[in-house]
Amino acid sequence: MIRSPVGVDLAAVDATVRRELASDVALVNQVAEYIIQSGGKRLRPLLVLLAARACGAESRGPQVPMAVVIEFIHTATLLHDDVVDGSHQRRGRETANEVWGNAASVLVGDFLYSRAFQVMVRLGNPRVMQVMADATNAIAEGEVLQLMNAGDPDTTEQRYLEVIYRKTAKLFEAGAQVAAVLQNAGPEAELALAAYGRHLGLAFQLIDDSLDYRSSAKVRGKNLGDDLAEGKPTLPLIHALRTGSETERALIRRAIERGGLDDLPAVTRAIESTGGLEYTARLARSEADQALAALEPLPDTVHKEALRQLASFAVSRSY
Ligand code: IPE
Ligand code: IPE
Ligand code: MG
Ligand code: MG
Repeated sequence: MIRSPVGVDLAAVDATVRRELASDVALVNQVAEYIIQSGGKRLRPLLVLLAARACGAESRGPQVPMAVVIEFIHTATLLHDDVVDGSHQRRGRETANEVWGNAASVLVGDFLYSRAFQVMVRLGNPRVMQVMADATNAIAEGEVLQLMNAGDPDTTEQRYLEVIYRKTAKLFEAGAQVAAVLQNAGPEAELALAAYGRHLGLAFQLIDDSLDYRSSAKVRGKNLGDDLAEGKPTLPLIHALRTGSETERALIRRAIERGGLDDLPAVTRAIESTGGLEYTARLARSEADQALAALEPLPDTVHKEALRQLASFAVSRSY
């Protein structure tokens, strides 16, 4: 439903991905294909394609390679992220670091990152390059900021929000914005889509952080409890730390400081009893509402309607 208005271009994205992955270094091909072909929701390419069409782009325009650029950058960050987070499962399979080790994952991540920039440079649009250079730099900062918060139970909601803005929402913001830039849609549409992408990305990561305590590994394609295992103070935990009983607070502080999964059942109960998931979901809904409001200046089209549905999916999803 959300995908149908850009079905042809999504197929073109997949074909371009396959073509642009090519390398004469066998291990690069192997690892890159492994993670790309294992699927993923392809939400960011979808966002780029819908945003471009919402600005009046024709099918098969430059938004197609742009969508590939964004998916390559996303996939590169996943390869790096799974090393940093010590994760074992991604997209329903073993992570690349599990199969080939950390070194291969980091290096092929670098390959995908730089391939993304090769494809983008061919588009020949300096503003697009500027937006993407800034976005990728912010993503790296976000991951480092998060590293600094890991193991720290005094991490505030504000610091958490800063991390998720940079590590996740920035790429959504940039993807939606460059779609408008490529279309020469003017400053109003550009700002509107950037704001839409930012709020969508925040909602998306908020829900991702709640799914880490309540989904199933099978549905989600990645293990539960990864955040706690790394001592990551995400919003469900921050809320439970603010509002829990003395015993619950002591338990959560210890779990964040130590990391590991021994305390996962007790921590999950504390999150439930303090309404930590509801609190997180409420904030996600508010971000999704702001994403919808941001679309206001754009003309009513099927593509705008699909962007509205994408914002709803970001909060209702279970995978
Ligand atoms: C995973 O993103 C990383 C986050 C920002 C939470 P997705 O959930 O979009 O990952 P894939 O591409 O569908 O696997
Ligand atoms: C996702 O980080 C953001 C980036 C990859 C930059 P997470 O660590 O929260 O996402 P998952 O849970 O591994 O997909
Ligand atoms: Mg991770
Ligand atoms: Mg991470």
